Amino acid sequence: MKKTATLTIDGNTYELPVLEGTEGDKAIDIRKLRAESGYITYDPGFANTGVCKSSITFMDGEKGILRYRGIPVEELAENSTFVETSFLLINGRLPTRKELNRFSVMLNDHSMVHEDMRHFFESFPRGAHPMGILSSMVNALRAFYPELPEEEEEINVTFARLLSKVRTMAAMSYKISRGHAVVYPRYDLTYCANFLNMMFDSPVRPYVIDPDVVRALEVFWILHADHEQNSSTAAVRLVGSVRGNIYAAVSAGICALWGRLHGGANQAVIEMLQQIHDSGGDPMPFIERAKDKSDPFRLMGFGHRVYKTYDPRAKIMKRMCDTILSKLNRKDPLLDIAKKLEEVALKDPYFIDHNLYPNVDFYSGIVLRAIGIPVNMFTVMFAIGRLPGWISQFREGQHDPEQRLFRPRQLYVGDQVRHYVPIDERG
Ligand code: ACO
Repeated sequence: MKKTATLTIDGNTYELPVLEGTEGDKAIDIRKLRAESGYITYDPGFANTGVCKSSITFMDGEKGILRYRGIPVEELAENSTFVETSFLLINGRLPTRKELNRFSVMLNDHSMVHEDMRHFFESFPRGAHPMGILSSMVNALRAFYPELPEEEEEINVTFARLLSKVRTMAAMSYKISRGHAVVYPRYDLTYCANFLNMMFDSPVRPYVIDPDVVRALEVFWILHADHEQNSSTAAVRLVGSVRGNIYAAVSAGICALWGRLHGGANQAVIEMLQQIHDSGGDPMPFIERAKDKSDPFRLMGFGHRVYKTYDPRAKIMKRMCDTILSKLNRKDPLLDIAKKLEEVALKDPYFIDHNLYPNVDFYSGIVLRAIGIPVNMFTVMFAIGRLPGWISQFREGQHDPEQRLFRPRQLYVGDQVRHYVPIDERG
């Protein structure tokens, strides 16, 4: 027997179908609600609204579970590479060795950026934020690749192009922003090693690839690869729902990710930890400010719309901070401050009552600092990691017969009708 929910308004009863996901998620299907009752639902920030059915990522915010295509993120972080995880997200299953090799070759084949695009890079003012540059450049890719393929093989080329070129463009934007010569991708390097080489190699100081640093980057990107219907993915799906092209959709995703409440938090966390450090290292004044409702300050890297427990990615990232710092034989005073801040916050009734725990951004900046990534590139690093997620979610939306144009409703609370007054008659 199919379950239904009953809604009664002004004595009228409406039966609404109840849907259930494979992991027991429950939803009330309100698609016909407005047509049948005249009512819409009011849900600012879509906190209780499911906009699609998806088989890509499962997360349980109460239990702290995150799985890509059914596989726990912990297992992927332990055993997989970013390229393999990208294949998994996009294609729905782990690749065979042959498929993985083929995918890697494709990524290599599409790693170069059209030389004409360099002029764009060079026109951005010195100091422009790399996220702004990246979103513009990704959108510009459409001008260089105007054909929107329909054949599966060609679609895969578009995905590979995005995955590979975005990484090259990110490294290019960094080099150009510093006034340094651009380093081209190399065929003999893996995806992550290639990125590091493009970022840090120079004619005067050749970059030595350290496998521990490469592994740290692999894990960082695996942990960011998808996160179901987060804000930037919603932006990607929205552009996809109007049949916008994938470059425009990913560019919109990058813009949404940039915000401090979303991916921009990784930069904001380091800035906050640095501020604590510079003011003597005591986190208490910052904790107090975060609790003060008259102060807009929030503890960056804490809290999450879905996780009401410890973010499973933050657990791995915290361990990764210790591992990479010890492998590189380095200390980072900001790690000690972060740990102290976490310890105090997790004992504080405000944070306990509000279920506020560290999210992925809390410790990720320390890993990025350790491997040499400058702070203004942190959110770009997140964007490269999130690409396979955006691509898979875009693709799923395109194939979903139930996907409709994203077009929310509103509750109008403005003036009722009033009439135009000529300018000379206004008081
Ligand atoms: N510091 C202090 N208080 C907080 C914090 C925080 N970091 N996060 C939430 N709260 C409080 C709010 O003030 C609010 O309190 P109230 O109910 O007493 O008014 C309550 O917790 C709920 O907060 P909302 O903003 O309604 O929660 P929402 O789900 O909309 O926001 C968000 C989630 C944006 C992540 C929020 O926790 C936040 O601003 N965190 C800091 C920024 C951050 O780390 N963002 C990265 C998120 S992870 C990611 O995108 C990759």
